[in-house]
This record gives sequence, C-alpha cells and structure tokens, in this order.
Amino acid sequence: MQAIVFPPLNNSPKHELSDIQKKILDAKKRKNAVILAHNYVCREIQEIADYVGDSLGLSRQAKKTNADIIAFAGVDFMAETAKILNPSKTVVLPDHNAGCTLEQLCDPIELEAFKKQHPDAIVISYINCSAKVKELSDIICTSGNALDIVKQIPPEQKIIFAPDQNLGSWIIEQTGRNMLLWNGYCAAHMQYKAEDLKALKDAFVGAPLLAHPECPKAVRDVADCVCSTEKMISFCKESNADKFIVATVVEMIHRLQKEIPDKTFIAATTSNEPALHCKNMQMNTPEKLLACLENLEPKIELSDETIKKSLAPIEKMLEMSK
Ligand code: 13P
Repeated sequence: MQAIVFPPLNNSPKHELSDIQKKILDAKKRKNAVILAHNYVCREIQEIADYVGDSLGLSRQAKKTNADIIAFAGVDFMAETAKILNPSKTVVLPDHNAGCTLEQLCDPIELEAFKKQHPDAIVISYINCSAKVKELSDIICTSGNALDIVKQIPPEQKIIFAPDQNLGSWIIEQTGRNMLLWNGYCAAHMQYKAEDLKALKDAFVGAPLLAHPECPKAVRDVADCVCSTEKMISFCKESNADKFIVATVVEMIHRLQKEIPDKTFIAATTSNEPALHCKNMQMNTPEKLLACLENLEPKIELSDETIKKSLAPIEKMLEMSK
C-alpha cells in the first residue's frame, strides 16, 4: 500500500476562504456562536473553527465559552459533554448520526450489571461513551489524561475501566496496576496492522511512529510514542526528527501541518487503505455545519437528571487533570 506523504507547508501560498467558509463565519457571528472542532474533522472546518483540539481541550473550551450557541464539529459524545458542562446553552452538531463505535460497544444496562458484580470497584470511563454510561461512572478521562488520572487513584482501589480495552491495557502496561477492562474498541484504529507499520518504518528510516492509544497492542508496541492527538503535536514540535509517521485518523495531519509547517508527515497505512478515516467524523461537512448554525438543529437534548448525574464525573476529571 502506497503511503500518503504530506510535505512541509512552509512555502505554500495562503489560500482565500471559500464561499461556504465565509457563510459559516457570517452565521456564527449573527448567532453569537462558537465553533469547536475536533482534530479529526476536515481541513475546511478546522480552518474556520474558534478552537481545534483533542477531547480534553474541547471539554475545557466548552466549559468556559461565553457564546450562546456551541456548534460542535465532532461526534455526539463530544457535543453531549459540551451540553452537560453548559446546560443553559444550545449545542448543535452538524449530523446527529455522527456517533462512535466505542460508545455503541458499552451498553449502560450491561455496565450497571458488571458494576453490581464488583461493588468495591470505582468506574473510570473514557469520554468516548454515552451520557448514560457517564452517569454510571465515578471519573471520566480522555486519552490525554487517562494515565495521569489512574496514577492518582490509591493502588488498593479496584478499578473498572470502560469502554476502550486498548487505552485500558496501555495504562495497565504503563502503571503495572490491575484494572477490570470493558471489551470495547475503536473500529477505525483497530484497522492498523503492526507488520504494515513496521514496513513503513523501514521505508521512512528515522521517522518516529506516533500511535493513538486506541491502537491495538501489537501496533502500540512498534510505536515510538503512544499519545493523544494533542500530545502528537508537542512530540513533533519537540523532536529533532523532520518527518513522522502518524497512526491515527488522517485529518489529524491538517492540524500537525498548521502547527508545525516545516516538517513532513506520513499517514500510516492500513491493510485496506492508504490512510485511516473515521466515518463518523467525516459526517461533519461544511454544508452541514452551516445548516446547523442557521437552523439551530440538530440540537443535543439531555434530561435534567442525566445532565446532573453525568456532570459530577466530568467535573472530577477536569479537577484531576493539570
Ligand atoms: P483525542 O482525545 O486524543 O483527540 O482522541 C479522541 C478520539 O476519539 C480518538 O479516536
């Protein structure tokens, strides 16, 4: 499989905003909205968002915004988190079908039954879960703070970690502590194969391989850095290397190129495709972003009870992360 190479952006001329980008900025101003975008959405949206970042940064931004409307270019659990942190605001998502496999693989009824089998355990849930699962959790974490949060829990405390078994097993490897893992996974990151990534390292000698912790263990084992999307940026900035292989959703490379225009990024190949895509994140098109700002639909709607119960573990996460 031929890898896609993104050369340094340094000398490329700045391009004009497109008509749709101008319309989105106009609608945003009229509605007093803020656009929060995840690192995995398309370049056109990243270019005009007020903030682009990882799940942790997005939660922090959602908490502190003064805008009336939050237009969330991401997936439903991220927009729900913004609503839980800001119940009085209108939160819109360009496509209400933009979900997450991790969320679908953790049924709250099953998690509740599992909790009953382990009454002495606390539940730490990756933010990629439904609001109902957040209600059942003691602490939420993201890939950017999960390790740090688990390290703060007394060693004798039993932990159920849901729903990502890959992030969970990476934390177990890093800390040596035992946790009960839920068996969820990200269908996108599971497409990587260690042998493909080893072949890429042989083809691009000297290029560190960065892998998201949602990758399977065999892939993480060949990586030079296992990191959240935001940590990928600091790693590439600080490294002396001038090229990097990036094993996560390919749109992340737009953000890397923006922050580090003098370096080269290579999209890690899967067995089927030259670069990894997240079908849910791809539902965020500029057209749908414009429509959701104009119509203020689809809106995130959560019951008062769900908001109240799921806020506590999110607040706990924000308190515990530096
Ligand atoms: P980050 O928080 O590292 O951006 O990850 C979010 C995510 O959903 C990865 O698939």
